[in-house]
Amino acid sequence: MSVIDNMPIADLVARQTPGMTLEQPFYTDPGVFARDLEAIVAKQWLFVDHISALPTPGDYITYEIAGESIILVHAKSRAIHAFFNVCRHRGSRICLNPKGHVRTLTCPYHAWVWDLEGRLIRARQMAEDFKPEDWPLHTCAVRVWNGMIFINLAPEGDPQVADFAAMARDLGPYIDHANLAGAKVVHTELYPTDANWKLAVENFHECYHCAPAHPEYTQVNAYVNDGDRDPEGRQKVVQDWRATWSIKGHAVDFLGPETRDPRQPWTVFRQPIRDGFHTLSQDGGYVAPLLNPEREPDDGEALIAFGPLFYVYLCTDHATLFRFTPVSTGFSEVRVSWVVRGDAQEGRDFDVEKLKWMWDVTTIEDTKIINDNQKGVNSRRYAPGRYSEHEGWTREFIDWYLSRVA
Ligand code: FES
Ligand SMILES: [Fe+2]
Repeated sequence: MSVIDNMPIADLVARQTPGMTLEQPFYTDPGVFARDLEAIVAKQWLFVDHISALPTPGDYITYEIAGESIILVHAKSRAIHAFFNVCRHRGSRICLNPKGHVRTLTCPYHAWVWDLEGRLIRARQMAEDFKPEDWPLHTCAVRVWNGMIFINLAPEGDPQVADFAAMARDLGPYIDHANLAGAKVVHTELYPTDANWKLAVENFHECYHCAPAHPEYTQVNAYVNDGDRDPEGRQKVVQDWRATWSIKGHAVDFLGPETRDPRQPWTVFRQPIRDGFHTLSQDGGYVAPLLNPEREPDDGEALIAFGPLFYVYLCTDHATLFRFTPVSTGFSEVRVSWVVRGDAQEGRDFDVEKLKWMWDVTTIEDTKIINDNQKGVNSRRYAPGRYSEHEGWTREFIDWYLSRVA
């Protein structure tokens, strides 16, 4: 039983109050969750993994999202293809493991075989008039950009899907210089979260909670406390940093609603970290070799948002990739991957404990507050509350969400 069995979703959306959190069903109702998958998740460019997950032809990974399983495979042609993990015979799953190395894609049920380009090359004991070329795997839209693999569950050309090229054009100046295509993931952690995906995203979109919830993050990032205590002093530091680095051609500004298409969910926040801090580490020292040794490091940090389910936190020496996967109404998977330069060697150039410190400790803390948020939202007495002035980006996400889900 879902609240939208009796009420069109547009009516539920229309009665939400701007500036307030959503009503309970948006966080607890399976019908709304199903609608989220159709209207939001199935229309977004979804980050799957970094290209270093598929180093050689024959390597594959699968990604489970929105009731689908998608196979990403490195083909002999060197292209990365994405296929729905659905057999063209009677619909079985084809790849049953999350990753592997194969010469062909073979269905375990009746052993139909496809090559890595998705062409059916063998089907046993079929009638004379059966034409294998009529039964390729169903392709899924895929883009590889700056070493990151994205898919889209909607058919190519769906008008509700954002133009990938527009996103790349807006975000490119903040990320192209980092050589992520030649970089590699050296560590990944999963943070299973007992909450609706929107609570996880709302939390990621605001730092109102940073001072009470994240002592480590707050100690490293001057903008949290200094921004509160002495906003003008902080503004001056940021302006001086911007003036210094914009002359050298670095993208230093925020990419805000004024400078981008507000109907799209991507944006960038870029700023200096703290006096004497080169990167997001415990002591401010670099934790890996510079991603681009040819470029003078400006020691800034960038939060690059691709959409509600994928974010890159970019420093000059490493990148952290955040993938949010809605799994069910009250469960989400948050996966964090740490990326360093391709030639960096563990032990010599980086130490995983130091590299992951900032975002591991912070994400563990976030998981706890998000879980507690969901528990409270589940209460009979939960009612929408008012966002603070420090939660502008969260509000922006909610406004965008409501406009899409209706
Ligand atoms: S269902 Fe795949 S070969 Fe029959
Ligand atoms: Fe947080």
